[in-house]
Amino acid sequence: MSRRTPNPYRPGFNQAPARLVGRDAILAAAAEALEIAAFDGRTPRPLLLVGPRGVGKTVLLGEIATVAAQGHGWPTVAVEIRPGTPFTAELVERLRDAATLLRQATVEKGGRLRVSGGKVSAKVFGVGGEVDVVRSAAGSAAVPLDEALSDAADAATACGGGLVITVDELQLADRAELANLAAVLQQHVADHWPLVVAGAGLPSLRERDRTVTYLERGEWHELGLLEPADTREALVAPAADAGRPMDEAAADVLTRASGGYPYAVQVLGHHAWRASHGQERIGVVHACAALSAAQRDLSAGLYASRWNDASPKEREYLAALAHLPEGAGGGDVARELGQPTSGVSYLRDRLIKKGTLFPERGALRFLVPGMARWIREQADA
Ligand SMILES: Nc1ncnc2c1ncn2[C@@H]1O[C@H](COP(=O)(O)OP(=O)(O)OP(=O)(O)O)[C@@H](O)[C@H]1O
Ligand SMILES: [Mg+2]
Repeated sequence: MSRRTPNPYRPGFNQAPARLVGRDAILAAAAEALEIAAFDGRTPRPLLLVGPRGVGKTVLLGEIATVAAQGHGWPTVAVEIRPGTPFTAELVERLRDAATLLRQATVEKGGRLRVSGGKVSAKVFGVGGEVDVVRSAAGSAAVPLDEALSDAADAATACGGGLVITVDELQLADRAELANLAAVLQQHVADHWPLVVAGAGLPSLRERDRTVTYLERGEWHELGLLEPADTREALVAPAADAGRPMDEAAADVLTRASGGYPYAVQVLGHHAWRASHGQERIGVVHACAALSAAQRDLSAGLYASRWNDASPKEREYLAALAHLPEGAGGGDVARELGQPTSGVSYLRDRLIKKGTLFPERGALRFLVPGMARWIREQADA
């Protein structure tokens, strides 16, 4: 009887893949920023990761926290911005927790931090993290960001350690609130804190916040689709490690079907694993069986939600764009709709703001790869 092996794929947002592929350059940049902060006595430029939905921004922020923890023993303060919700109070509170933790830390031989039995490296304050710090009764919301940040940085400096701050969904930040965070961080660059800041957001972030100099001077990394060889590794390696290897032909089918889109890679792998339940290998039949199930998941989750979110006029705009060749811009869509560009540019702007489209070198693109095809198929159905 075959033992049930857990599915090694991670078809969900914010879920770290079993094999994180194709992001070596960004991970090297993060490792370098950590080294600059830890050893050169400088605060490195912030790392900014931008890319469409589902390309792996959040898992990379998590990986940066892991590298900081494992390599340096540094804790991470992680904040995810939610629509229409201020984030500063939450950031302040987590900074205070981090400061408390760092004050309890001692430095091990080799420079790693240790807190009363447990390593600081076990601590990520924020999404999915554990907070086991006893807080003082005083509320933290009243503490200004500058004070909380300075306090955490002092605590880190005092124990010879450091701190990472990650901010996810940056494009949702209120302009004034983001400007304030940037101003506080900018102001302290000269203090040479052992601090690494990493942020992530949709490509619209880049367009929107040109005015915030601190971000503008950051180290921007654009995340996109994975190369075929990396895609293949992300599919093949987890299966092999879990003891049910994938045939070459199956890997071909899945690699091609995913288009290198990280989220699709996990969804396809997941379904191929399920389809091959009880078998010794994942074969091409299982891969083919996975295609339709995966397509259903992807459409339901990603395309349909954006389509349903669009007004009738926005749908006309999306449909026109979907039927144009790749690389078409706002002017082409307007022409297709028989309107002057200025007459429909408000639709373009709204769809960019919603995160359905993004502008790239004069072209308008769908944020979720494959959505244009899905819209065409819906129209033909
Ligand atoms: N480099 C990678 N290799 C393999 N799989 C990946 C990689 N990066 C991300 N994934 C997978 O892609 C999916 C999406 O990842 P993640 O949630 O980090 O995306 P995101 O860019 O933050 O999306 P969103 O903008 O919606 O928040 C997850 O299932 C994750 O396991
Ligand atoms: Mg994310």
